[in-house]
Amino acid sequence: MPARKTPETLRSWRWYGRDELRSFGHRSRAKQAGLDSFDFTGKPVIGIFNTWTDLNSCHLHFKITAECVKRGVLQAGGLPFEVPVMSAGEMLTKPTAMFHRNFLAMETEELLRANPLDGAVLLGGCDKSTPGLLMGAFSMNIPIIYVPCGPMIRGNWRGETLGSGSDVWKYWDEKRAGNLCGDAWAEIEDGIARSAGHCMTMGTASTMTSMAEVLGLTLPGASSIPAVDSAHNRMAAAAGRQIVENVWADLKPLDVVTAASFDNAIAVDMALGGSTNAIVHLVAMAGRAGIKLPLERFDEISKRTPLIANLRPSGKYLMDDFYTAGGLRATLKVMESLLTTDLITVNGRTLSENIADAEVYNSDVIRSLDNALASDGGTAVLRGNLAPEGAVIKVSAATKELLNHTGPAMVFEDYNDLKKRLDDPDLPVTKDSVLVLKNGGPVGAPGMPEWGMLPIPKKLLKEGIRDMVRVSDARMSGTSYGTCVLHVSPESAVGGPLAHVRTGDLIQLDATNRQVNLLVSDEELASRRASWAPPPPRYGRGYGKLYCEHVTQAHEGADFDFLQFGPETPEPEIH
Ligand code: FES
Repeated sequence: MPARKTPETLRSWRWYGRDELRSFGHRSRAKQAGLDSFDFTGKPVIGIFNTWTDLNSCHLHFKITAECVKRGVLQAGGLPFEVPVMSAGEMLTKPTAMFHRNFLAMETEELLRANPLDGAVLLGGCDKSTPGLLMGAFSMNIPIIYVPCGPMIRGNWRGETLGSGSDVWKYWDEKRAGNLCGDAWAEIEDGIARSAGHCMTMGTASTMTSMAEVLGLTLPGASSIPAVDSAHNRMAAAAGRQIVENVWADLKPLDVVTAASFDNAIAVDMALGGSTNAIVHLVAMAGRAGIKLPLERFDEISKRTPLIANLRPSGKYLMDDFYTAGGLRATLKVMESLLTTDLITVNGRTLSENIADAEVYNSDVIRSLDNALASDGGTAVLRGNLAPEGAVIKVSAATKELLNHTGPAMVFEDYNDLKKRLDDPDLPVTKDSVLVLKNGGPVGAPGMPEWGMLPIPKKLLKEGIRDMVRVSDARMSGTSYGTCVLHVSPESAVGGPLAHVRTGDLIQLDATNRQVNLLVSDEELASRRASWAPPPPRYGRGYGKLYCEHVTQAHEGADFDFLQFGPETPEPEIH
């Protein structure tokens, strides 16, 4: 363990503690805000990074959460400062919040570096906010604790439970098929999001906050607490107290995350039936910590990890049920034999100590290993001539009969083409067709939006078809389902094989053998490649230009090439 800090070795001392001109300036301006000399006696200065905004209803309660963290920091003798950061909210941000994940990571890293902060509590939860905040924190590597916003309460419509995302897709298909009448659609809109908090299925948000907890970056149990439960506020205050101790102990995120903790995270992702988005985020997060996570690691761990959480979209229940069934701590306890648990976490204890007394209170929600919902984790990594660098399919959310399927491609050149032609009654598709979407990847879209669950063409919906094989370089919402081959890498916009698929080509999905292939001769593919030209750049300036020029491919985490682990970044000059 590193030596404990003293007031004079705190990072903030360089700003506030010294007897010279610049420190006079820093102290006098802090006094402008009503602080006192008492505040500059060597107290740990804690940033509370708040992703609250009116534009992100998942984080509506974060003004109160931040106050609770402040209370904890003050109780422990620290000095809290609230710092607003980009929210990266999923529900409004265009083209996709994923486009801004790296932006949030940069903002987090630079705000941590530029200011007199000894540690920080990071408030996030809506999908991309978790990896964005943590990627930045890993790169800066000063003590942090992650406070997840918690899931919202269950949705309700005419006595039926509604789950975020999953039930939207389900009832949208029924509406398009003409099966919803009267005010039903508007009532579902009223009832599906009833409180603050992130999506309450095991979508990307629930998955990523669980990943943060397994990695040891939250207090034990934090990720499962519903947003509106009073336990959330108690957890936030406890995080405030703990971060002050962690500053003295100099417990930094890269002391906590290791290759073993990432393996734990992958195993838990599989046991939860977590979002495929976790793959791209975990690869990016590990990259910030200097840890390589090849896609095959997900496949290997998936094969040996049973699916034990009975949560939508792979199962039946919602996060509220998960919490009262014992939550993530109980899940970790059930699967302890599959994990490395002698790893330190941000409360200074090991994972094993944190779950020692955890219990399952509902064994249908959190199954035992010998009564699992499936014997493996339900995520497969595919290779083949269509995806030389890999692709991903969530087997547990797919139709079994379609997992080994060969059919003719119906190609959409981009999302606009899809919107324009999908419901054309003359679209030449059958239930055996393979829907293909190009230009949905990190560069092509840009930002790899969640377009990968391509809608079923209306004419097939009317025939009762609810699933088809779909292939794209996009991602899919963690709340989605269907036989969707995702994250095809390299993507079409940079000349990956997907760029050369034409309508009518046969595509073979062989999930059993982890293959996805385009059944076109090598000669023909070479000639198509020779005549291919990349799409013109979408952005001539600004963040979009920076993004498209520096984003890596899906199998590399879609981080910026210049933000990955590398030589230490110098601290700001003292002057
Ligand atoms: Fe925020 Fe789903 S929209 S978590």
